[in-house]
Amino acid sequence: MSTQKKSLWRRLTGQKKAHSSPAANANEPHIYYGHWPESFRFLNAASFLRGGAQLKDWDSTKAAPFITELLNSERHRFFQAAMGYLFSAGVEGDYLEFGCFSAVSFRMALTWAKMLSLPPMRFVAFDSFAGLPEVDADVALPSWQAGTMAMSEADFMKTLREHGVGLDRVETIPGFFDATLTDELKAKWIAEGRRASFINVDCDLYSSAIPVFRFIEPFLTEGTVLYVDDWFVGYRGSPEKGVAKAFREFAAQSRFRFQPFLNSGWWGRAWIAYLPAAASDSARDRIL
Ligand SMILES: C[S@@+](CC[C@H](N)C(=O)[O-])C[C@H]1O[C@@H](n2cnc3c(N)ncnc32)[C@H](O)[C@@H]1O
Repeated sequence: MSTQKKSLWRRLTGQKKAHSSPAANANEPHIYYGHWPESFRFLNAASFLRGGAQLKDWDSTKAAPFITELLNSERHRFFQAAMGYLFSAGVEGDYLEFGCFSAVSFRMALTWAKMLSLPPMRFVAFDSFAGLPEVDADVALPSWQAGTMAMSEADFMKTLREHGVGLDRVETIPGFFDATLTDELKAKWIAEGRRASFINVDCDLYSSAIPVFRFIEPFLTEGTVLYVDDWFVGYRGSPEKGVAKAFREFAAQSRFRFQPFLNSGWWGRAWIAYLPAAASDSARDRIL
C-alpha cells in the first residue's frame, strides 16, 4: 500500500500509526473493552460494508463478538452524547448507576465526564456485587438467572483502577437494592443537598427497579438524564413489563415529566426530566 493510501486507510478506520499495538495504547484512556482502532472500525462504512469475499468464513462465532462490539459502540455513542448534553445544557449533579456488573457503562461515564471536563461530580455504583437476585417471571432472556452477571466489589474496583479515570470520585454502595436504598440514605443525601445529573437504571428486572425508582425522586433536577437500559430487549419491547413498567409507574406519580431523549442502540432509552409549568392531573401526559 502506498504511503498516501495508508494514510487514507488510517483516517477511514481510525487506526493510528504510532498506536498499532495494544501495548502502545496502555496509557490512553480506555473507553470500553477493546482498543480505539478496533472499536471504531465498525463505525465507518468503508470497513463495515463487507463484501462476499470477507464474509465467506463468517459464522456465529464471529457474529457474537461483533454484535457485542456493535452494541458497545452504540452505548459508547450514547454516553458521549448524553454527557455532551449535560455539558451544553449546564446540568450539574452526580452520576448514579443502579446495576454496574463489569463497569462497562460506568467507565464510559467516567471517561466522557473527564473528556468534557464536566464540573466535579460523584460517580455512585449501586450493586449487589453478587449478580441478579431471583428473576421475575416475565423476562424474555433465558440467560438472566439468579447470580448471573456477578462481579465482586474488589474486581469492580480493580477494573476501575486499571481504567484509571476519576477514581477519587467513585463511591460504591454494595448490597441488594431493597436493603441499601433505605429512607435513612435518602434522608442523608437530601440533607447533603445531593443532586443527580445522570441516572442509569441498568438492573434488568421489574422487582429490582421498584426500589430504585422509589429512591431517586428527591435527587432529580431539571435536566437530569434518566436512562433505562433493557427498555427494548429484556421484554421484547413491551412497555407493560420489566423495567419499562417500573419506569411508567414511577413517572405516573413523579412531580417531573419526562421528555424522550436518546436511544442506546436497540437496547435502552433515555429521557430528560423537567418540571411542568402547570400541574396536570393526566398521568398520560407524564411521558411525552
Ligand atoms: C446488566 S448488569 C449491569 C451492566 C453494567 N451497567 C455494565 O455496563 O457493565 C445488571 C446488574 O444489576 C445488578 N442487580 C440487578 N438487580 C439488583 C438488585 N436488586 N440489587 C442489587 N443489584 C442488582 C446485578 O448484580 C448486575 O451487576
